[in-house]
Amino acid sequence: MYKTSQKHQRENSLHGSESIAEARFHDTNTDKAVVPFLKWPGGKRWIVPQLLNVLGSFQFERYFEPFLGGGALFFALRPSRALLSDLNPDLINTYVQVKQNAAAITRKLRRLPVSAEKYDRMRASSPASRFERAVRFLYLNRTAFGGIYRLNREGVFNVPFGGGQRTPEALWRDGLLANAACVLKTARFLTCDFEKATADVGENDLVYCDPTYTVAHSNNGFVRYNERNFAWDDQKRLAACCQRLARRRIGLGQAHDSQTSAIARF
Ligand SMILES: C[S@@+](CC[C@H](N)C(=O)[O-])C[C@H]1O[C@@H](n2cnc3c(N)ncnc32)[C@H](O)[C@@H]1O
Repeated sequence: MYKTSQKHQRENSLHGSESIAEARFHDTNTDKAVVPFLKWPGGKRWIVPQLLNVLGSFQFERYFEPFLGGGALFFALRPSRALLSDLNPDLINTYVQVKQNAAAITRKLRRLPVSAEKYDRMRASSPASRFERAVRFLYLNRTAFGGIYRLNREGVFNVPFGGGQRTPEALWRDGLLANAACVLKTARFLTCDFEKATADVGENDLVYCDPTYTVAHSNNGFVRYNERNFAWDDQKRLAACCQRLARRRIGLGQAHDSQTSAIARF
């Protein structure tokens, strides 16, 4: 899976005198794993310890996460070189804005009341600026019922107000946005399909795939992160893409949302 000799040959060209192993972790203000700032359906926080057992000691140059969602593994690994992507443009815009404007987003969110009326107004709004779109996305993510993210076929977010404990407060109280901004400092982002996102993968890179749960009849019951569902044909495309990467001996981690979560390493 990983060719040690090639790794050492490449170290100096990539990071000067710094080794790849040393370069993997950011100089964050915390040694602890960074908690994802998004509540994301299908998020893999619960399986991160097992993923780290398999991938944690793996040496790599760049980390690719083409189904980013809440990025649970990215925030646990904190790689210094990462290409993070997802098909959902509002999600990726939010990451970019958190990376660039975490303090201003926090100030704005703190001023917003948490109520059913405000929620309905936010949900119905369609801000023009990228910054305001990210504020709306975070507000809805933290106040929607059950933390669900669901779009209808027209691409409209249609989850009702959550109430009770569902507030954005943890974003600043627990430093979620500030810590995320720190870890995201050197990450690059793309809004695109996984095939495009992995086109440039090199042999010392690590690719972690956590696609939307799909069943052969193309109806996964409730998860719709995008206007178009991740269909069975997409699963087949992904399998072919992973096989191509594996043939080139590229590090590959994959998770499935099923009762017996499987992690494949080639
Ligand atoms: C199960 S979630 C990923 C969860 C993530 N691992 C976490 O820990 O939060 C799957 C993600 O894949 C994205 N997605 C669906 N189809 C895609 C495609 N064709 N290409 C790239 N991303 C896609 C969805 O928008 C969603 O964010």
